[in-house]
Amino acid sequence: MRVRKAVIPAAGLGTRFLPATKAVPKEMLPVVDTPAIQLIVEEAVASGIESILIVTGRGKAAMEDHFDASFELERFLEARGKTAELASVRRIAAMARVCFVRQQEARGLGHAVLCARDWTGDEPFAVLLGDDLVRSRTPCLRQLLDVFEERGASVLGVMDVPRADVSKYGVVAGTPLGGGLVEVSGVVEKPRPEEAPSSTAIVGRYVLTPAIFDELERTGPGAGGEIQLTDAVRTLLSKEKVFALNFEGRRYDTGDRLGFLKATLAYALARPDVGPALREHLRDLADGGLEP
Ligand code: G1P
Repeated sequence: MRVRKAVIPAAGLGTRFLPATKAVPKEMLPVVDTPAIQLIVEEAVASGIESILIVTGRGKAAMEDHFDASFELERFLEARGKTAELASVRRIAAMARVCFVRQQEARGLGHAVLCARDWTGDEPFAVLLGDDLVRSRTPCLRQLLDVFEERGASVLGVMDVPRADVSKYGVVAGTPLGGGLVEVSGVVEKPRPEEAPSSTAIVGRYVLTPAIFDELERTGPGAGGEIQLTDAVRTLLSKEKVFALNFEGRRYDTGDRLGFLKATLAYALARPDVGPALREHLRDLADGGLEP
């Protein structure tokens, strides 16, 4: 079955990025000149997704404006003959059908996904987390969708992390099937390194069957007192198969200051307009040549 819908939970307060996120949603912080949430939507669209639900919260209306038409701005750019800028602005609103729902209380990722139940209905759907940007040859979500289409079961995007870092992630146990694919036998949210079943961590890409919603309804607060998607995946495992894919690509955690800087550099260096000059500047910096 083809997956048409994707859910992007974006209700978090962005406390790891204060003070920037006091008045600006963290998903709107630009990577070079593009808000992180737009890069996530672009990945979903490039993977074949047609309809997107962003789960937002209070104070995050800038995201709704970003994916809406902007009449005044478009008129202004048109009148000035700024055709490239006009096209870039129009493209955002035309990219996909983007809808919004508000999570009224910050009760965790599992609860945010549950807010999408009525919208997704009885269809499989993708989940992309806004903090995780992935640069890859084939869009990361597309790689997971290929597995879903072949196996007909939920798929988690995973990568190996240093064991000391497992307590930041959902962690997967399972049987490797080759080609980076794992048949999942267990998942645990934010385990202590000495208790983790492996160092294979879930990163922010999922393809889920609608059966996850019944599990989420039954899931109580877990790690951090929040309703965890990982806990619902664990109970789903007793009913359905779940796979994990070590996808090809490099992942950046933009919720973290250093991760955000690394993502900005990676995206900027790959761009023909700013990349070459930035590379030169970085060389000068590394040589200490530009320090006062
Ligand atoms: C969430 C998930 C976790 C996953 C992580 C990936 O955690 O709960 O299972 O490994 O995203 O970024 P968060 O980073 O929101 O604490």
